[in-house]
Amino acid sequence: MKDLHELLVNRRSIRRYTDEPLTPDQVRLILEAGLLAPTSKSARPWQFVAVDDKNMLERLAQCKPAGAAPIAGCALAVVVAVDQTQSDPWIEDASVAASYMQLQAQDLGLGSCWIQVRGRFTADGLPSEEYVQELLGIPEQCPVVCILTFGNKAEERKPVDTSKLLWEKVHIGTWKAEE
Ligand SMILES: Cc1cc2nc3c(=O)[nH]c(=O)nc-3n(C[C@H](O)[C@H](O)[C@H](O)COP(=O)(O)O)c2cc1C
Repeated sequence: MKDLHELLVNRRSIRRYTDEPLTPDQVRLILEAGLLAPTSKSARPWQFVAVDDKNMLERLAQCKPAGAAPIAGCALAVVVAVDQTQSDPWIEDASVAASYMQLQAQDLGLGSCWIQVRGRFTADGLPSEEYVQELLGIPEQCPVVCILTFGNKAEERKPVDTSKLLWEKVHIGTWKAEE
């Protein structure tokens, strides 16, 4: 097992990918990471839609006017939807699963990026969630939280500089306001 801290320090959002497809094993491990994520009351309310069709990826990239471009060029997108009738903290359940998948991708040497969908709008003013639901046939009760992009890295990102971590945001014992 690799060192988890090293993995966390080296994980950066990757938005440019090579044309190389992911192997079936890589896809399976990423999706399995999502399914392994803990959820409130073990409700497991999420639904993951794996998309690798280029035409569909390009259409998904139109889910909002800015910040969604990586979807068009990725090898695999995983749309993270969640049945909000099955869990009260559905946003948290979906977010933990998304993070698990991103960390699994990093462990496989792949790049990934979280593309926010919930609360965003298309260029025409339609909620991005509804746009993606319509495109993929996702039921109304399953809002889309995010789309994760995955692929082999076509850009290098520096690891996080741990000397710049915001330790002032950590309060030991009781809240201490910044001086
Ligand atoms: C909740 C959330 C929403 C994000 N939305 C987007 C997005 O819509 N488009 C994008 O390119 N990156 C998005 N990101 C990636 C962040 O911009 C990125 O994680 C942040 O700048 C820190 O950089 P790093 O991931 O390289 O450490 C999102 C990340 C999170 C956690």
